[in-house]
Amino acid sequence: MIDVLIIGSGIAGLTAALNASKDNSTVVVLSKTYPTHSQSVQAQGGINAVLYEDDDSVDIHIEDTYKGGCYIANKEHIKFMCENAKDTIYWLDSIGVPFNRTNDNKIAQRKFGGTKKIRTCYSSDYSGLKILHTLYDRCIKENIQFINENVLLNLIIENNICLGAISLDIQSGQVNKHLSKTVILATGGYAGIYHNHTTNSYSNTADGIAIAFNSGVKLSNMEFVQFHPTSLENTNVLISESARGEGGYLLDKNFNRFIDELKPRDEVSRAIYERIQKNEKVYLDLRHLGIDKIKEYLPQERTLALNYSNIKIEDDILPITPAAHYTMGGINTDINTKTNIENLFACGECAEISVHGANRLGGNSLLEIVTFGKVAGINATNKAKEIEVINININTLHENEIDKITTIFNLENKINFYEEKIKIGHLLFNNLGLFRTLSHMKSLLLELNTTKKNLIYMGIDDKSKVYNKNLVELLEFRNMIDVAILVCESAIKREESRGSHFRMDYPNQKNEYQKNSILIKEDNLIQFKFEEILWF
Ligand code: FUM
Repeated sequence: MIDVLIIGSGIAGLTAALNASKDNSTVVVLSKTYPTHSQSVQAQGGINAVLYEDDDSVDIHIEDTYKGGCYIANKEHIKFMCENAKDTIYWLDSIGVPFNRTNDNKIAQRKFGGTKKIRTCYSSDYSGLKILHTLYDRCIKENIQFINENVLLNLIIENNICLGAISLDIQSGQVNKHLSKTVILATGGYAGIYHNHTTNSYSNTADGIAIAFNSGVKLSNMEFVQFHPTSLENTNVLISESARGEGGYLLDKNFNRFIDELKPRDEVSRAIYERIQKNEKVYLDLRHLGIDKIKEYLPQERTLALNYSNIKIEDDILPITPAAHYTMGGINTDINTKTNIENLFACGECAEISVHGANRLGGNSLLEIVTFGKVAGINATNKAKEIEVINININTLHENEIDKITTIFNLENKINFYEEKIKIGHLLFNNLGLFRTLSHMKSLLLELNTTKKNLIYMGIDDKSKVYNKNLVELLEFRNMIDVAILVCESAIKREESRGSHFRMDYPNQKNEYQKNSILIKEDNLIQFKFEEILWF
């Protein structure tokens, strides 16, 4: 019997696994891909912590985070994260994360947006990747069991208690059940729904959030989607905020700077996109940094620009555009990472733990996912110890999932869902992007609901059982549509502008909306409300 089943193998999932595996607990990590393919590597620039209190303090970090999130987060949760940040960094350092050092061998830090203080620790511009790989090494050493290439199909929930999950094994085509005393969802965010307008990988398709919601799990603040200011024009490959942190400039069509490059991401992205909407180009200029600094601190950005745009950043300016990068909303949890379902925990980007509010600061995502990954792992393993055996017959549930897959195989393929995915990606970016209006969102919602109805006409051409990518991608597309509807519904209801959610028809922030937006499925209907943030 599994004690802790972790779904998702990014930094949050792996941190949870290491912390859950203490005291002989049986921990299994179930993942759609492989740990090293996780989206966490896109957090390139670094991880925030106040390490040295000469010019900075934990209180300032708390205030920056709260203000950056436009006052819609739980300050107690932020306090917990920021107060533990120093220990978090030293723990990562102790397990081998190769942080850059200063000449006197201290952990080096760089400037990031939304704060004037220097508190972002980094591993050149590979911070997420280095943390992920170090954690994975550690998991292997601890003999943590991995089940890779398994797509989540459903959660096993009875009487409001989570008892495991059901997955599709991509290699064999079999539907597998995983009974577990506790489950942690660490399946990532939903920026991937902005297909072809996102820095996220194609596999980041909001599966965990869609499946959780459809199983009765409460979601919050889904309307808050962060657009990263600098992705490479035409490719959406991320150019890290560290490029601006190291001194890069943003230039307009006349090659003039037009904004403080280290303002919070929502403000910088809007300033860029205003120009792009007028058909003007915007550039990132790194030439003045010089080749030595670029090679030492921005080697990945240099390679990406060369490989994807054929531009040498030491010689030329780089055309950029904002792209959906990160999502602040997700599965609603308390500070202990508990969801509204017994024995079900959530951490990482799929969770809305109320620290980032309406706009996350760069460097705070890695901090959040390690901090609360640890909390989830410890709490899930402790909870599992209180549970003796799971007595449940899940044959019917299992057969239902097998039937659902068989039904998909039998659907006629009258509408090509790949074309729909491209269409919906564009519509989301244009109608639910950096600047939003009621009429655009309403027409998008109509389109999304029509697409959902039309899913019965979207089948698969590939009928093979093993490695059926066509099937996996259709399952993903269904999840993307479900989540897109939820983002749109929430964005329509929030009649104000706050952080990343900018309404042209309601351009101001309003006190009456200093609340979480909540979504829950009851009697097969989407219920929506605003809820007070309780620490007030
Ligand atoms: O720009 C970046 O390096 C992204 C960092 C993040 O999302 O935290």
